[in-house]
Amino acid sequence: MSIKSVMVIGAGQMGSGIAQVFAQSGFQVMLNDMNEEALDKGMQSIEKLLSRNVDKGRIEEEEKTATLSRLTPSLNLDDAESADLVIEAIVENMEVKTKVFSRLDKITPHHTILASNTSSLPITEIAAATERPEKVIGMHFMNPVPVMKLVEIIRGLQTSDETYETIQRVAGELQKTAVEVEDFPGFVSNRILMPMINEAIYTLYEGVASKEDIDSVMKLGMNHPMGPLTLADFIGLDTCLYIMEVLHDGFGDSKYRPCPLLRKYVKAGWLGKKSGRGFYVYE
Ligand code: CAA
Ligand code: NAD
Repeated sequence: MSIKSVMVIGAGQMGSGIAQVFAQSGFQVMLNDMNEEALDKGMQSIEKLLSRNVDKGRIEEEEKTATLSRLTPSLNLDDAESADLVIEAIVENMEVKTKVFSRLDKITPHHTILASNTSSLPITEIAAATERPEKVIGMHFMNPVPVMKLVEIIRGLQTSDETYETIQRVAGELQKTAVEVEDFPGFVSNRILMPMINEAIYTLYEGVASKEDIDSVMKLGMNHPMGPLTLADFIGLDTCLYIMEVLHDGFGDSKYRPCPLLRKYVKAGWLGKKSGRGFYVYE
């Protein structure tokens, strides 16, 4: 199946990055958000990153102009009627996501593939909100999308081979490396990463060491590019909490219980870098 036109829903840190890499790879892209301010911010961040690439000599000015000309902002979900592929990158909440998928099922043509960038929610359950479960799939990008090479492709119970093969080919066209993953809580990436981050938060909560020292241990001792508390702020503490809850509910194992300190920060609105404060303060 040929994919030419793509809609990305959610212009936050993931959606804007996904829209950028699709547009840079020659696809026609609509970037949709229900919040005008968030949409403007997403479009501006793409322009800024492209300008930075020009300044650094990584791309020519013409490529920046051509990429931007392939990008259209959208505030109306009905614009998805012309998309061959929709990638949803909104809040990590099953109820909100299934509402959007159920609407997309009515708006888009029969051939359209509906993908979710969910970090951990079951693709099979998202697919059940539509009448085309064979065309629903997980396409999980890593943050920051323009830099990270990996895409996890998650097969729901009813995802067809044709849908899988199309998404695998598209990932290749974006110059990403795809891995095939079955639909289990947290997939592979967050089943391994998020308990490590949660344990780092417990280490802080129990007063074992300062946040800076916990991060230094993993950065300098294990050669991670970012310490786990910095990484949690970068991902978003709300997203980290949702993922831990999905692991906890999905496996029913107390080893996945979210740290109370994580819950407390999210309740306070300390969501990490995107809100200006998490474990660290951002100007
Ligand atoms: N968007 C786009 N590009 C970015 C970026 C961003 N937010 N941040 C950094 N970059 C790029 C820039 O091009 C930069 O190069 P220039 O300065 O020459 O332009 C390059 O990355 C290196 O950046 P920095 O020198 O500022 O910093 P760094 O060397 O520490 O690299 C990093 C930044 C790539 C983010 C690195 O710290 C890193 O790899 N961190 C870990 C990221 C990670 O683990 N991601 C996965 C998160 S989990 C996930 O995504 C799944 C989930 O479901 C939660
Ligand atoms: P974010 O909070 O930065 O952005 C979410 C955007 O979605 C916001 O702009 C919001 O206005 C918009 N939105 C919410 N509901 C909407 C709706 N019904 N219609 C249109 N727009 C809507 O979130 P994010 O960090 O970009 O995460 C988005 C998704 O990607 C989540 O499912 C998350 O789990 C997943 N993810 C996040 C990361 C990460 O590191 N942050 C990595 C991989 C995957």
